[in-house]
Amino acid sequence: MKTQNDLIDFSSNDYLGFAQSNELHKNAIQILNEKQHKNGTTGSRLLSGNNSLHEEVEQQLATFFNAESGLLFNSGYDANVGLFSSVLQRGDLIFYDELIHASIRDGIQMSNAKASKFGHNDLIDLEKKLSVRAESRTQENEIYIVTESVFSMDGDSPDLKGISELCEKYNAHLIVDEAHATGVFGKNGEGLLQQYDLEHNVFARIHTFGKAIGCHGAVVLGSNELKNYLINFARSFIYTTAIPLHTVASIKVAIEELVILGNAEESPLLKLRTNINYFNQQLKDTNHKLNFVDSTSAIHCCVISGNAKVKTIASQVQDKGYDVKPILSPTVPLGEERLRICLHSYNSIQEIDEILNLLGTFAG
Ligand SMILES: Cc1ncc(COP(=O)(O)O)c(C=O)c1O
Repeated sequence: MKTQNDLIDFSSNDYLGFAQSNELHKNAIQILNEKQHKNGTTGSRLLSGNNSLHEEVEQQLATFFNAESGLLFNSGYDANVGLFSSVLQRGDLIFYDELIHASIRDGIQMSNAKASKFGHNDLIDLEKKLSVRAESRTQENEIYIVTESVFSMDGDSPDLKGISELCEKYNAHLIVDEAHATGVFGKNGEGLLQQYDLEHNVFARIHTFGKAIGCHGAVVLGSNELKNYLINFARSFIYTTAIPLHTVASIKVAIEELVILGNAEESPLLKLRTNINYFNQQLKDTNHKLNFVDSTSAIHCCVISGNAKVKTIASQVQDKGYDVKPILSPTVPLGEERLRICLHSYNSIQEIDEILNLLGTFAG
């Protein structure tokens, strides 16, 4: 599959090809036709915008992700801003990974909680900070820890079990953003927490649908109590027009597709995993001097210091017909500029060989 600029896609978040699926498009439109729904949702979910399809899909998502409840938001950005700005209270403490997504930082900033960052995926640093802060903790303070199960710029993952044990030890609430693990990890794409049977060890999970699920929107999963709280206090849920039904129908058919395909041989999930394994194996075997961040996700990053250098290499690779994107500072720290390569179910083995050869030539 090609990107809009007619290049071979190694850059989009459409890991499973769902964004371009005619079948899913047709099935989503059929749902809208059955509901005789035309265009907009006409108001907030709290006013005229609520539809039985919203509630049906929230139930479907809660079942799929093995959670008590789920609440849909218009986007992952809205979900994070709404969740963190409303749940965190004055006097609470939140520890966040230094590479956490901007939407989580923004949500934390909008709250009155104290925030402290820990080194990327560094549990020793996290525990050091937790033990110091825990000493001054009063009865009223809640402690939260937030991380991503797959980091959007590096594609790497934290030790979720270790973090969950720290949460238990220090009586802290764990929140995990599964944006880039959704549709990639877990038996049917339920994410990394479910892959490790940790879904009940968290206070909240965020799954977004603009990446492997191929549409838009996000769900916050947690207890019924959390859902009710967010309905009443999350401003990015309340003060906005309800998530469009076309999006909700697209989420519904995409999740059904993940369940139906399961581990069938033609499953895009299995094809994606095969490609990820092949990519990693080739990297190991071909002894390039490329500086890749370790990753078993769909996101792979080749660190190439310097904005000018990484931009030049990206355009050399693009000139050969392959779409890769340079990630520049200050989006990433100075000196850690990189080429971000996203793998998909629809990339062929030849395409993977070729992109690694091109990187070996231009960046090796
Ligand atoms: C980890 C993470 N969380 C949240 C988001 C925001 O999701 P959305 O694009 O649905 O707003 C992104 C998207 O870049 C992300 O990478």
